[in-house]
Amino acid sequence: FEELDAPRPLAGKRALVTSGPTVEPIDPVRYIANRSSGKQGHAIAEALRRLGADVTLVTGPTRLPDPAGCTVRPIETAREMLAACESALPADIAVCAAAVADWRVAGESDRKLKKDGGGPPSLTLAENPDILATLSQPGPRRPALVVGFAAETGNVVDYATAKRIRKGCDWIVANDVSPGTTTFGGADNTVHLIRADGAEDWPTMGKDAVAARLAEAIARHFNPPST
Ligand code: CTP
Ligand code: CA
Repeated sequence: FEELDAPRPLAGKRALVTSGPTVEPIDPVRYIANRSSGKQGHAIAEALRRLGADVTLVTGPTRLPDPAGCTVRPIETAREMLAACESALPADIAVCAAAVADWRVAGESDRKLKKDGGGPPSLTLAENPDILATLSQPGPRRPALVVGFAAETGNVVDYATAKRIRKGCDWIVANDVSPGTTTFGGADNTVHLIRADGAEDWPTMGKDAVAARLAEAIARHFNPPST
């Protein structure tokens, strides 16, 4: 349910959220994919919706139910994810939380590869389009606020700061996935919000809480508190 009198600061705003893994076929029965539960992206779609945004969720296969009130566009490959995102434009907000496979198999086979005694086949990989970088390109269709994610180990804030600049997005949610953290498949996330003016360290919290806090920050960006 939605609280009838809850504040809806993102009413009238269109948001695009990517979530889940992408799945890249090798042949009709095999694929390579990324590890992603989709929990964080789906929670962000729901949190933006709760603040009143009109949300399109472009998602790879997950075990999650569709978030209430969002338009859901299921896809499998990175190229399908890019096409679905482009057809969801124009949007005011884009949040790329998907774990996109960096590579696909070049020359996917339309017939099942067989064990023919000649040893295992070699797969040649081709680079996938970068959806976050594409959405971040300047132009009339660029969403006003583009937010990426970065899963990093070690100097998390430094790597994510460099990634924000390389991708051309406005904000990056940097996720600490060092061994001992519980990000992948777990309920909790330790993140830093990287903007042009620096990094904000957030306490370890549930993915739903990260989503709610990110949605609040997005709402504040569009409705800065009057001073
Ligand atoms: N991303 C994307 N399309 C891709 C790869 C990544 O949209 N083909 C987005 C992810 O959704 C995430 C951000 O880019 O928001 C960072 O993803 P990440 O895998 O950390 O970045 P890469 O540039 O692929 O760098 P790395 O070599 O560290 O994997
Ligand atoms: Ca990557």
